Amino acid sequence: MEKGALLYEGKAKRVYRTDDEKLFIVSYKDDATAFNGEKKGTITGKGVVNNRMSNMICQMLEEEGIETHFVKELNDRETVVKAVQIVPLEVIVRNVAAGSFSKRFGVEEGTVLKSPTLEYCLKDDALGDPMINEYHILALDIATEEELKAMSDLTFKINKILCAFFEQVGVKLIDFKIELGRVDGKIILADEISPDTCRFWDAETNKKLDKDRFRRDLGGVEEVYQEMLNRVTSRR
Ligand code: TMP
Repeated sequence: MEKGALLYEGKAKRVYRTDDEKLFIVSYKDDATAFNGEKKGTITGKGVVNNRMSNMICQMLEEEGIETHFVKELNDRETVVKAVQIVPLEVIVRNVAAGSFSKRFGVEEGTVLKSPTLEYCLKDDALGDPMINEYHILALDIATEEELKAMSDLTFKINKILCAFFEQVGVKLIDFKIELGRVDGKIILADEISPDTCRFWDAETNKKLDKDRFRRDLGGVEEVYQEMLNRVTSRR
């Protein structure tokens, strides 16, 4: 397979075309940003961890009947994925209050929610990824009613599988963000699942094992990324 032109460069990944129009290559960077790019840094080895970990999780999800963009890991940092049309929404699931949810509603971080929540943000850096509701999504023709239903069903299913998986490696899945894509008339998971995009807390100690260590200057960032990869690898 030939790597073609750069299609898109995001804050943490590059996406390339290939000689097959149905396939893209994703390349993971060590660059880290927070607060919509205001804080910038490097997390050495992050690209390798996120590539490997996401791929293992996508394969686990596929075994559980969830269609993902994953096709084939090429090397440490690069993976072949299905060429999807990304729905420009960040879909966020929360099991435990943390981050912007805790701030917005004045709920202490760590409070277990009575039921998992789902929220959408519009993927638009210039606007700062504003929160958006289902009526807005329909009114702006971002997705159809059928797609919204498919997206929320899929996302809650993924949450259930991920919670059970991470529990086996001694990790609480506090919350996570995913993006979904359209391919062949279906909605599939088309995003990484990594310490960049999830909050992971150690089940015993509540130690943060994710990007909050970078966002909040807690130290030991590289170490917890490695630790999460090791834990996931031990289970696969
Ligand atoms: P939040 O509490 O800051 O809204 O974040 C919720 C979850 O979404 C958390 O697991 C981190 C993840 N996330 C991203 O993956 N990308 C983003 O740009 C933001 C703001 C959050």
